[in-house]
Amino acid sequence: MSTTLDPTNIPAHIAIIMDGNGRWARAQGKDRLYGHWQGYRTLKQIVYAADEIGVRFLTVYGFSSENWNRPHDEVEGLMDLMIQAMKAEMDEMAEKGIQFRVSGRPSGLPNELVNVFHEAVRNTRGNPRITLNLAVNYGGRAEIVDAVREIVNAAKSGEIAPPLIDEAIISRHLYNPDIPDPDLLIRTAGEMRISNFLLWEAAYAEIWVTQTPWPDFSKDHLEAAITDYQKRIRKFGTVVE
Ligand code: FPP
Repeated sequence: MSTTLDPTNIPAHIAIIMDGNGRWARAQGKDRLYGHWQGYRTLKQIVYAADEIGVRFLTVYGFSSENWNRPHDEVEGLMDLMIQAMKAEMDEMAEKGIQFRVSGRPSGLPNELVNVFHEAVRNTRGNPRITLNLAVNYGGRAEIVDAVREIVNAAKSGEIAPPLIDEAIISRHLYNPDIPDPDLLIRTAGEMRISNFLLWEAAYAEIWVTQTPWPDFSKDHLEAAITDYQKRIRKFGTVVE
């Protein structure tokens, strides 16, 4: 498929719920982890494709705070996959000018994973190309809880006057306050749910859902999502004539 995208209306920030790895693997007669490994290959292609298109920020749901409830082997396999993927990709991301970020609670994650995350954030800081923000042990409600805790502490110490607490202050206490809110939220594998992803930030995101499972998602699908986005009229609660 060759699509002509309007270069003046590329979503600056795309968020993706990468769903369907398990179903994709089952359809091939393979185990779920095989699907996650294929999902990693897809993610790599999509980061570089999004960068080429001119997307500035890509936030992907790698592991939710609810994913701990999966079978132990799958959780362990996903942690190991992320450690190996980070080690394999870190230098290339730094060389190609990609910035790496993480959103989520570090507590509960293997130390080795937290360490490679820190290293990748440090080694890619200030890079000029796309920012890949990986949501790991992430929950949208937990992120708001963490922001509230910080704000309450700041209020207690007199840094913030409670009557002045507003939306901008809450936004500034989220995990990556310098990343703008997502313009477009993509979900693969057909479910019509937000699943506790970027609850605060996605308030006005346009949503695009495809039946395609994540391992089969390609640059063509990304372009189809952006083409659809470019046809939408974003109203932000107002009236557009
Ligand atoms: C959802 O599919 C996918 C996940 C919970 C994991 C996403 C992780 C990856 C795509 C690998 C990412 C790699 C790195 C380096 C971050 P599912 O298992 O819920 O699929 P199902 O709904 O078909 O069961």
